Amino acid sequence: MRIAVVGSGYVGLVSGACFADFGHEVTCIDSDAAKIAALKNGIMPIYEPGLDQIVAKNSAAKRLLFTTELGSAVSRADAVFIAVGTPSRRGDGHADLSYVHTVAREIAQNVRNFTVVITKSTVPVGTGDEVERIIRETNPQADVAVVSNPEFLREGAAIEDFKRPDRIVIGIEDERARAVMTEVYRPLYLNKAPLLFTARRTSELIKYAANAFLAMKITFINEIADLCEAVGSDVQDVAHGIGLDNRIGGKFLHAGPGYGGSCFPKDTLALVKTAQDHGSPLRLIEATVAINDQRKRAMARKVARAIGADIRGKTVALLGLTFKPNTDDMRESPAISIIQGLQDGGAKVRAFDPEGMEQAKACVSDVTYGADPYTIAEGADALVLVTEWDAFRALDFPRLRSLMNDPLFVDLRNVYRRELIARHGFRYVSIGRPKEDIPVALSTAAE
Ligand code: UDX
Repeated sequence: MRIAVVGSGYVGLVSGACFADFGHEVTCIDSDAAKIAALKNGIMPIYEPGLDQIVAKNSAAKRLLFTTELGSAVSRADAVFIAVGTPSRRGDGHADLSYVHTVAREIAQNVRNFTVVITKSTVPVGTGDEVERIIRETNPQADVAVVSNPEFLREGAAIEDFKRPDRIVIGIEDERARAVMTEVYRPLYLNKAPLLFTARRTSELIKYAANAFLAMKITFINEIADLCEAVGSDVQDVAHGIGLDNRIGGKFLHAGPGYGGSCFPKDTLALVKTAQDHGSPLRLIEATVAINDQRKRAMARKVARAIGADIRGKTVALLGLTFKPNTDDMRESPAISIIQGLQDGGAKVRAFDPEGMEQAKACVSDVTYGADPYTIAEGADALVLVTEWDAFRALDFPRLRSLMNDPLFVDLRNVYRRELIARHGFRYVSIGRPKEDIPVALSTAAE
């Protein structure tokens, strides 16, 4: 198949590279000439494990091209994916669809034969109808079928998620699109990834409902963690205990500082707005959004309480800045709220992150960056694990103890257990676990 992908960001670039890896002829299009030039030289605009190799392999095989010119790629394509950004609109939280609409008009001006136009960006219910209307209005002769095909890619695991999806959701209104989309995804279809065909609006809602449910699940365990601290239970054991029920499942039950990223915060807000606009409010998701926002801000207070009443002049070292490991993405990261809260209290903040420090510089100020955990720990009054990078899973605590002014470790991802940390003379604060650890023998028996 000849495929054009408009938008070479997280979704478009990963999707285009993986479609090429399936053997399709793919052209990735972006209006950012510098990004396209970098891609032609094998330089990735984003940090995504394995992306540079898959792009290099398929570029070398001439199956993957990059261009700023939308016209020629679209006119030759059997399928055109719209993978441009749909950020939260300033002020009201609705999805900003201006990029999608612009691209729809450009596609309409350049289609030559029957073409399937697919919205892969996360778009509110009804956007496919709008794209169809724009195309027909722009070019009444255009013979297109507009399809919804949302992605379920996690940053840091995007290629894995693309190649081994739990399902592929395809929303169609024109039966001619079924054959084309089956052909596009044939390699996955053959390895039994279920291809779920639905109506277009249903497909659009599946994406939002999935993200909203996952965000709610995380928020649920985060609130249970607060209750665990109040009643003296262990949230990790509670998560394990409920997760063994296959109706609940153990994933996305890790209590932490709140969810971030470019998807959950944006998509939950957009879904809440869609629901309100249609007179069917989603009160559970409204609560999820509010609770998560409050939680990220509350984390700075948790660190301040651990240090002691007054944090003015204290030095706090943060391990991790990105919203999750294996990405350089700082969007809506809890670290941003934590830094602002600590600085408002008069503390000095240092930080190390394996990939995110460059991006962080555009989000926060007055932070001192270090080359590794030990550099930033020197003279610090607290060490706070914010993002669970593998690089932080085997810290040298005796070395940290010798460097720090006050041996306090605040573990916002429950990476460690108290008895290990206490053995090295640290005070240990974590999320949703009792002040004193349940004897290891007891908790091991439960595992
Ligand atoms: C998410 C969805 O998982 C993915 O399917 C969708 O396509 C895009 O949005 P992503 O935002 O990349 O992917 O990351 P994810 O791994 O889902 O984590 C989102 C946030 O939730 C992160 O801040 C993470 O730290 C947090 N999280 C996740 C938890 O706090 N606890 C968990 O158990 C899981």
